[in-house]
This record gives sequence, C-alpha cells and structure tokens, in this order.
Amino acid sequence: MPTVQELQRASPAEPLTMLTAYDAPTAAIVDAAGIDVILVGDSMGNAVLGYDSTLPVTMDEVVSHTSAVARAADDALVVGDMPFLSYGTSAETGIENAGRLLKEAGANAVKIESGPHTVELTDRLVDLGIPVMAHLGLTPQRRNQIGGYARQGTTEEAAAEIRDLAAKHEAAGAFSLVLEHVPDELATDVTAALDIPVVGIGAGSETDGQVLVLTDVIGLSESVPPFAEEFGDVRTEMEDAVAAYRDAVEDGSFP
Ligand code: KIV
Ligand code: NA
Repeated sequence: MPTVQELQRASPAEPLTMLTAYDAPTAAIVDAAGIDVILVGDSMGNAVLGYDSTLPVTMDEVVSHTSAVARAADDALVVGDMPFLSYGTSAETGIENAGRLLKEAGANAVKIESGPHTVELTDRLVDLGIPVMAHLGLTPQRRNQIGGYARQGTTEEAAAEIRDLAAKHEAAGAFSLVLEHVPDELATDVTAALDIPVVGIGAGSETDGQVLVLTDVIGLSESVPPFAEEFGDVRTEMEDAVAAYRDAVEDGSFP
C-alpha cells in the first residue's frame, strides 16, 4: 500500500491515480489495476444508493461500504469520505466519525469537504493519527448553499479564498487536496503553491493526480458530469447479460 508519505512524491510528471469504489469486487479490480488511492466517496449516494445527491448519505452507509472496499484492497490506500453533517457540528462528532472510518471500516485516511470550518478539525485529526485529504473547489455537500454544481473559483475573490484555504489545510497537516471543478489556471497555481499532492477532478491536467467516480469511468452512470470521461460501456454489458439470461430461461435453453 502506498503510504501517505509516498503519495507526496506525486507530481504532474508522475501523477497519482485515484478512483472511487463502493463494493468489494469493484475495489478488487481497481486495486489490481494499480490505482494508487481508492476513495469510498459519498458519491455512493448517486452512484450506487439511488439518491439524487450526496446529502442523504449516512455515516453508517459510508462505514459499511468502506469496510467492503478495505477488505478487498491489498495495495491501494483506502480513503473514506466524511458524509454531510458527519463533521462540523462539533469537534467531538467529527473526530468520532472520522475515527469510525479507521477503527471500524479499516480505511487508511479520511476525506473532508473543506472550508474555513475544517482547518481546526484537520489539525486535530492529524494529531490523533487520522490522515486527512482536504477537498476544495466544488464541494457538492454545499449544493443548496451554492446553487448547484457550477465551477467554483471563477472570480478573483473566490480563487483567492481557495488558494488561502488550500494553504491553511496544508499547514493543518492534510496529506493531499482534492480540487474539484475549478479553472485550470487556478488548479495549476494551487498545485505549484502546495507541497502536498493536489488531485484534480475537472481541474485540468496540471495537478499532481486525477480522480473520477468509478461508475462514470466504466460507463454505468445514468448521467456523467461534463468533466468526466467514460472509458468503457459496462451498462451495455450488463443489459446484454441480463437480457440473455432472461431469454435463456424463457426459451428453456438455461438451465
Ligand atoms: O464522493 C466522491 O466521489 C468525491 C470525488 C468526486 C472527489 O468526493
Ligand atoms: Na465526495
């Protein structure tokens, strides 16, 4: 397994690869492919739990799915995502919930949608031995506050706030930063300014690594964000297999 220290060597020249997974068989495939980091994202809400956003995802759901992934992953670093309101209400709640991902689920680190309110929490978690991946730019848990899923950091003021918060989370001890859906130039700037690896999603090609949602990559999602890319067509494979099974039972050729 790459350690959080080893991941810090990632650079735009030798980028870090990160992908989500939510279950054991998929995590085993991602792990065997040599992906560096598996994120058990709260994107599970949309990707596999049938919610229409990440907001309803519970701590118990993330613990359950992270456990499945951690049992299947031998080499990748497993990061559990902190769901909406599992942190931020009090330091104790955030620490206890982050702790569950390591103690109960077997994750190696946690990811937290970051803001001014997570600098101190990041510092506390790192002191306790819980590695933290920060997350700035588009933070989908704030969709009601920001009015959807638009690109962030598009004004000079907003870009400056992201640069400032990135530096503050690095100083608080975060081992890496996810930067989602921001202008390429901002991502390039933040990557140059930080020592920790910046993992981009919809943030151009100049970050230290890339992350996407697995169901988007394999072609299983019903809709894919503009910055994602489908590298396969698993939906068609599944439709064909299910239809072939149905036909074989109905026409008596199986069993
Ligand atoms: O939940 C998730 O999958 C994420 C990634 C898109 C970074 O937060
Ligand atoms: Na997430």
